[in-house]
Amino acid sequence: MAKQWGGRFKEKTDPIAEIFTSSIHYDFRLAIHDIRGSIAHARMLGNQGIITKKDSKKIISALKEIEKEIKSEKFQWDYSLEDVHTNIENALIKKIGDIGKKLHTARSRNDQVVTDVRLWLREKIDNIVELIKEFQRGLINLAEMNMDVIIPGYTHLQPAQPVLLSHHTLAYFEMFQRDKERFLQNRKRVNVLTLGSTALAGTTFPIDPYSVAKELGFEDVSKNSMDAVSDRDFAIEFIFNCSLLMMHLSRWAEELIIWSSPQFGFIEIGDAYTTGSSIMPQKKNPDVAELIRGKTGRVYGSLINLLTLMKGLPLTYNRDLQEDKEPLFDVSDTVTLTLMVATGMLYSIRVLKDNIKKALSLGYMEATDLADYLVAKGVPFREAHSIVGKVVLYALEKQKTLYNLTMEEYKQFSPLFDNNLYEIIKPETIVARRNSPGGTSPSQVKKALEEAKKRI
Ligand code: ARG
Repeated sequence: MAKQWGGRFKEKTDPIAEIFTSSIHYDFRLAIHDIRGSIAHARMLGNQGIITKKDSKKIISALKEIEKEIKSEKFQWDYSLEDVHTNIENALIKKIGDIGKKLHTARSRNDQVVTDVRLWLREKIDNIVELIKEFQRGLINLAEMNMDVIIPGYTHLQPAQPVLLSHHTLAYFEMFQRDKERFLQNRKRVNVLTLGSTALAGTTFPIDPYSVAKELGFEDVSKNSMDAVSDRDFAIEFIFNCSLLMMHLSRWAEELIIWSSPQFGFIEIGDAYTTGSSIMPQKKNPDVAELIRGKTGRVYGSLINLLTLMKGLPLTYNRDLQEDKEPLFDVSDTVTLTLMVATGMLYSIRVLKDNIKKALSLGYMEATDLADYLVAKGVPFREAHSIVGKVVLYALEKQKTLYNLTMEEYKQFSPLFDNNLYEIIKPETIVARRNSPGGTSPSQVKKALEEAKKRI
């Protein structure tokens, strides 16, 4: 097939250079969006009298036929043609001859390719937002089912203070809520029509980009044709948002990995989301969670890829921009699949309450409340801290918990200790008393849970 731009050339493209510059093996994924853009463009050309209405109709119905062929996998992709745009335009010309050659009036591949990517990305964002919501529903479900479970809360991965498992779970809800907001903001900047910018400078034809925007569901029309054909901020933003989302999923996965190891034993992940070992028969490994953690690196890699791709590009279009698609596709595929598997795994989690209860008695997590107890009796906080520190050291040496120390033992450290301290240092009391807004008390967490359901 002769090159669309062949007129000016005497020699053929080197075969290796042809392979090197080709993108059809991945940008075929934009085919349906390319056709949608072309149909809207052809309709506008007809309405504006740039081509006849008759030609416009012919082009549109031929494009619809091509769409059907692509969807039913009957379309013959020609890998010797550079990209998806050329493939579809050539097929159109094959179908309707010279009329098909009119479609590329008042546009260029430079504005066409961004239009395709924007249409494609808008769909992916909508899908990802829905998948985030499903994951959040899973978090709410886990929180709701386990309102009575108190777990050790950690700082430095050392036992710190008891918290509700539901409180811990809703911490993740907040992260994913922010992620969703970021994607929705990103969507606004994605949802802009750039078609009509043509190669870089606009066009001499009396186009109507607003009608094209309306047909394609774009909320806005780009303001500067040079920016429009060379901007990929919206794509970088998307990958950044995916990076942050993956970081959140990875932290969550890391906790599942730790919590499901027998040394913690807080949860069991369902068999469907774990795998065995080829040599050690006893093993049940959290491979899915590990791969969520692992795939995060690959998404970060794409972010750096695109940032680096853009940093040295002079205005306007440069062929480097073709390299935006593989990372974008890969990130979108990775994030979509990760969210789907994460939600499934989330519902498979079994909470091992007895083990959690045992862990709760370790680590002296009552110490802060014991210090606060002395403060309430008039001891300055620093002094209370030091007294309780000594109590903990004593208990450690005696291999006792703070709950098991006798009143005589307590009295050695301060005469202010009294029998009611045993009630104060119960995990239930510790948790219930943290009733500050956003705190871990059951009444705060219940409120947060109800709000989360509405905010989703
Ligand atoms: N395949 C190209 C890309 O993805 C399409 C635009 C080609 N434009 C050009 N001037 N060579 O960027």
